[in-house]
Amino acid sequence: MVGSGYVGLVSGACFADFGHDVICVDKAVEKIEALKKGIIPIFEPGLDALVESNVKAGRLSFTTDLTEAVAEADVVFIAVGTPSRRGDGHADLGYVYAASSEIAAAIKGFTVIVTKSTVPVGTGDEVERIIRETNPEADFAVVSNPEFLREGAAIEDFKRPDRIVVGLSDERARAVMTEVYRPLYLNQSPLLFTSRRTSELIKYAANGFLAMKITFINEMADLCERVGADVQDVSRGIGLDGRIGSKFLHAGPGYGGSCFPKDTLALAKTAQDYDAPVRLIETTIAVNDNRKRAMGRKVIAAVGGDVRGKKVAVLGLTFKPNTDDMRDSPAIAVVQTLKDAGAIVSGYDPEGMENAKQMMDIEFASGPYQAAEGADVAVLVTEWNEFRALDLERLKSVMKSPILVDLRNVYRAPEVEAHGFTYTGVGKTEEVTKV
Ligand code: UDX
Repeated sequence: MVGSGYVGLVSGACFADFGHDVICVDKAVEKIEALKKGIIPIFEPGLDALVESNVKAGRLSFTTDLTEAVAEADVVFIAVGTPSRRGDGHADLGYVYAASSEIAAAIKGFTVIVTKSTVPVGTGDEVERIIRETNPEADFAVVSNPEFLREGAAIEDFKRPDRIVVGLSDERARAVMTEVYRPLYLNQSPLLFTSRRTSELIKYAANGFLAMKITFINEMADLCERVGADVQDVSRGIGLDGRIGSKFLHAGPGYGGSCFPKDTLALAKTAQDYDAPVRLIETTIAVNDNRKRAMGRKVIAAVGGDVRGKKVAVLGLTFKPNTDDMRDSPAIAVVQTLKDAGAIVSGYDPEGMENAKQMMDIEFASGPYQAAEGADVAVLVTEWNEFRALDLERLKSVMKSPILVDLRNVYRAPEVEAHGFTYTGVGKTEEVTKV
């Protein structure tokens, strides 16, 4: 497994748990040293136990020596980062190409090279060209095998996938990949073989569709606020239709994370390059970007239209619960909008504080009630379980004015208003409190 980040480490540990022998490779010496000591550099529920048990069983090891790891391997997964390239939003494939040429030089015997990183359509062809040019004698096949792992649920998603997608054209590679995924295949997880380019596109199409689905319900939320409807009931009412499905229909501050923002942008760019623009995805990107700042303005409106010199408590900073990941978190744009309007911001997150401190210049509190001390308004941005049953009396007692803006509709207006709060949700009609 070349690359021991979110995808590589989870995939490597899960493959080891299937009974395969796995070597996780990474250039970052300190990361590998930490992993060898059983220190997991990312927050992913259950990962530390999974790594520990498989290291103990002798099926999982860590090294910075790619050459030795590749020489022994039947299958080499490329799971390195493919961030958005500065400036133009294309996927930056520098790490993928560098890994490909290093792998090429180390291949011994027939080896299947698998791109697990999310890579634009056609990348597999480029990887194949690089390997062939670097090592003309190499006997290999390049295969696409995208991951569909959600952060915070990655192990579950790996072990009980809705499907496994493998893009290839080489029969020997097909036999090897069937063997690699046999434990899942036997559990009836569909193993879908496609062409390599089809497999690469499936990944982008999946993330693009999910991002669009979220953006759809977010726009429905705005309409609900105007027409006096309830977006959670709209979501339930359409989600019960089997053709729509109820997942990913929760209105919120907009999607974030290391995937949707990057993958929608890369998909739009690829489509433009091939003169088949995906305008629905282009619109999804624009709507989502605007929404995050609009959420900041929602908070400003909740305190009467001016936050200059006022204190805002931000509950939740990560892009979603059960992760420490701050990449493209909506909280970043919400906080920036509030700061630009002169607000004093105090933030708290159960897991994201270390990462948030690298990205936000705000006060950091030790808990939700500390963040709310003297605050004119509290805004719930990330629906951590810890925020689902706040002691509203205690919260009210520490705040300067009891105003709650709930960007994830965790609470119901009546229950919050009963404690003397003014409540604003997303896509909820402002309950006109009976005078
Ligand atoms: C996503 C895809 O789900 C996963 O299959 C892919 O491999 C990687 O990208 P991830 O980014 O970890 O996974 O998180 P996800 O749970 O999909 O949420 C993405 C964003 O959408 C988060 O900001 C989340 O808060 C938001 N979201 C999700 C909503 O706003 N509403 C929803 O109903 C669901």
